[in-house]
Amino acid sequence: MKARVLTTQLAAASALVVSGIFCWSSAVYADAGADFPKPSYNDKGEMIRPDLSYREWVYVGTPLTPNDLNPPEAPFPEFHNVYIHPSDFDHYKRTGQFPDGTVLIKELVLVGSNTAVSGKGYFMGEFTGLEATVKDSERFPDEPGNWAYFTFGHSYPLADSAAAFPAAACNACHEASAADDFVFTQYYPVLRAAKGVTSGRSMNEDDPAFESMASGMAAAMGIIFQPTAETADVASAVPTDKDELFRYLKSGAYKEFAAQESGQHATRGPHTNIGWPVRVFLDPVLDGSLAAGNAAHPLGSSAVKEMYDDDGDLQGWAVMVKTEQDSAGGGGWFWYEVTSTRSGDDPVATGNGVPLCFGCHFIGRDFVLTDYPLR
Ligand code: HEC
Ligand code: HEC
Repeated sequence: MKARVLTTQLAAASALVVSGIFCWSSAVYADAGADFPKPSYNDKGEMIRPDLSYREWVYVGTPLTPNDLNPPEAPFPEFHNVYIHPSDFDHYKRTGQFPDGTVLIKELVLVGSNTAVSGKGYFMGEFTGLEATVKDSERFPDEPGNWAYFTFGHSYPLADSAAAFPAAACNACHEASAADDFVFTQYYPVLRAAKGVTSGRSMNEDDPAFESMASGMAAAMGIIFQPTAETADVASAVPTDKDELFRYLKSGAYKEFAAQESGQHATRGPHTNIGWPVRVFLDPVLDGSLAAGNAAHPLGSSAVKEMYDDDGDLQGWAVMVKTEQDSAGGGGWFWYEVTSTRSGDDPVATGNGVPLCFGCHFIGRDFVLTDYPLR
């Protein structure tokens, strides 16, 4: 009896030793990764905000698009600290590929100060936001590359859970412009080095990679300007037929709206150019709804934004009209932008559910971003 136990123990022990010898390196990494949970999901399929142990994952890089380089205000002025789960890093290092189940987290950190004893620069201040991307063929079989994208907010308190974005809002841009399997490794020296690509690519026009990147960008642009939903005919102060709309804008009829900004101001958005002047006009339906503090605006709600150039000359218009009761992630809104005052033949975008537009406007009150009451 005693001997039997001993034999079993010996067998178990030698099995451990043998497996230990054969799987030494992966066992070490797998153990390191196993200490860190991967994000989990609630019963609505939303990702539950990961616990802070991601700050102990493998850190890969920190892109920064500060306000001073994007005057007067960058859309995302924070540091973007990016982390990858340790077991995914191990796999990437060994195979050069992101395994199924890969998780990357992007934590946003405000620029705190611009001077230190070492000199002028950008120094990290407070944590302010959190985003994540996950490659999961089981959970997201229909997403391009099986990558899904989540944001828990850009200011505290962060959301406890987040639904995956529609592919067009996040995934399309990553697919077209990121260097390696939807991930922006061109900005993550730790990942490039891990894969053995030691010299980072500089994206100047002499670089052979520039062309493929530029054509990728162009493809993404093609997608993100295209409408994704039908435009229903609704009664609205601002028309949604492309030609009729251009004539309407040329006529200046929207200037009759009582709700209008008192003058031009620098845009926070990319319309024409970040920082160039804009002026917003709201029809009575949208104005009334914003005044009432509604979470969703009524059918026909319309907004016109005049866009000016640096010299204050009118360059074109951006328009939104709500054509469905349900905003459906941006598909219930008609979006239009033209950057000419002479011809309406070639608008930047026209139609419902234009990803470029709702991808930014989704953070607004039912997609409306203008500061209200109007300035
Ligand atoms: C216009 C293109 C574009 C769109 C649209 C976009 N991203 Fe990104 N994303 C980037 C770039 C560029 C980086 C790397 C540099 C940086 O962080 O500024 C990045 C990095 C990330 C990262 C870090 C991991 C990685 O893949 O490199 C996450 C997470 C992320 N984005 C989430 C999102 C989410 C969530 C959305 C949709 C709400 C989104 N992105 C939409 C361009 C885009
Ligand atoms: C990068 C973010 C971003 C993108 C992309 C974007 N917008 Fe905007 N938009 C804004 C911001 C910010 C405002 C608030 C006024 C301002 O600062 O210009 C705004 C205001 C507007 C307004 C005035 C009503 C309102 O919601 O405040 C209209 C109309 C508009 N945008 C239309 C569009 C259309 C059409 C597109 C796509 C062709 C688009 N926008 C794409 C950021 C964006």
